Amino acid sequence: MKHLIDIMELSVDEIDALIATAEDIVAAPEKYANVCRGKQLATLFFEPSTRTRLSFESAMLALGGGVLGFSEAGSSSAAKGESVADTARIVGCYADIIAMRHPKEGAPRVAARAAGVPVINAGDGGHFHPTQTLADLLTIRREKGRFENLTVGCCGDLKFGRTVHSLVSAMSRYAGVRFVFISPEELRVPDYVRSEVLDAKGVAYSEVLDLEKALPGLDVLYMTRVQKERFFNEADYVRLKDTYILTPEKLRGAGPELCVMHPLPRVNEIDVRVDEDPRACYFKQVKNGKYMRMALIMMLLGVGP
Ligand code: NCD
Repeated sequence: MKHLIDIMELSVDEIDALIATAEDIVAAPEKYANVCRGKQLATLFFEPSTRTRLSFESAMLALGGGVLGFSEAGSSSAAKGESVADTARIVGCYADIIAMRHPKEGAPRVAARAAGVPVINAGDGGHFHPTQTLADLLTIRREKGRFENLTVGCCGDLKFGRTVHSLVSAMSRYAGVRFVFISPEELRVPDYVRSEVLDAKGVAYSEVLDLEKALPGLDVLYMTRVQKERFFNEADYVRLKDTYILTPEKLRGAGPELCVMHPLPRVNEIDVRVDEDPRACYFKQVKNGKYMRMALIMMLLGVGP
């Protein structure tokens, strides 16, 4: 049985196949309207989310399937002390596929061992978020036409930002990709990403403090929110939260083809005036997320038109 816990469990060919399916969904959505008829997706969200959960649900509904689940730990049996493994095993009796978000790193992996149905990691703590990466990859492919030879700037909370960790892993498989990591000292990319991904694959990267100086050299700018919920101390969060704010003035220094991305939710890190700039791609990213989740659900359930 196939699950998706870490983006690296998908080969480059499988990612290409998902992108091809997503493109076909965009071209002919009606072909896919009934492929999951009679199947149920359970969304088990032990941590708040709007877009990821609704994106999964909207994806399954668009495939003709049904959805069930919960959106906070307090409304599940976790509040009574049930283990993740037991919850997954129970839900595997009701649903054909599970999407799980959990504040503890590794929880979806535990669920996958117990569920008896495919489990998708919809974000585990500060660790990984593979389906956001699928949305990001489709966006990069559609906006830039390729993955190779791109300079990708990642800005903000690179320590706790799980979307960055998954994106860096996925993109480091393509030739000529370079990263510019823009963050305060305290929020640098974790050591395991540096040693297990970047150094292991010999990927070129630099770490800088200044966003404006980095902008002119970038093909993609991936902005992130400072992950308040993962801080041990409120004072540190308050001190760091507004370190980077992308404004139209700062963007003047960037190239005309820059693709500005953000997994959302945005707090302060992108001025709303940037939304009107043709380089702003973050709302397209949201739509792309739904198409890629549709493609993934079909792949894991082994169904298609
Ligand atoms: C991200 C997440 O949950 O990690 N959001 C999302 O899934 N689109 C980013 C974030 O919460 O900052």
